[in-house]
Amino acid sequence: MSRKILLILGPNLNMVGLREKNVYGEETAETINEDIRRWAEELGMDIEIYQSNCEGEIISKIHSALGTKDGIIINAGAYTHYSYAIRDAIACVPSVPTIEVHMSNVHARDEFRHKTVIGGVCKGQISGFGKFSYRLALYALNDIL
Ligand code: DQA
Repeated sequence: MSRKILLILGPNLNMVGLREKNVYGEETAETINEDIRRWAEELGMDIEIYQSNCEGEIISKIHSALGTKDGIIINAGAYTHYSYAIRDAIACVPSVPTIEVHMSNVHARDEFRHKTVIGGVCKGQISGFGKFSYRLALYALNDIL
């Protein structure tokens, strides 16, 4: 059976292609998602892509992965840096390995982005490779699942 992956995209990630093009590039979220679907398919994975700008919705989505998904990839956007609630939600589903992803290199940017409050409950982090950060996260899950 193919492994079920949940990709969660947090606040403002629907605006990629329009927002801060110097940081996130000009390619739209839609075409990036098409690439991600293709990459997942190539690895024999069944992927659901979920985007929300709301903390509570992201938390409920993480909970819903329990017993229904094999792995989570999350780009929590700015919530990465201060949402203890999202951290606790990830800690609620330890049987579902979670990979933290960022398109930009958060360590090369503003000081407040250097800190991740979710990193400690994730399997690992990938940061700085644009849309390919998502592909690397798929490879990571492919390896550990
Ligand atoms: C981001 C980095 C965050 O600091 C920022 O708030 C985002 C996107 C990234 O993918 O590089 O919204 O997670």
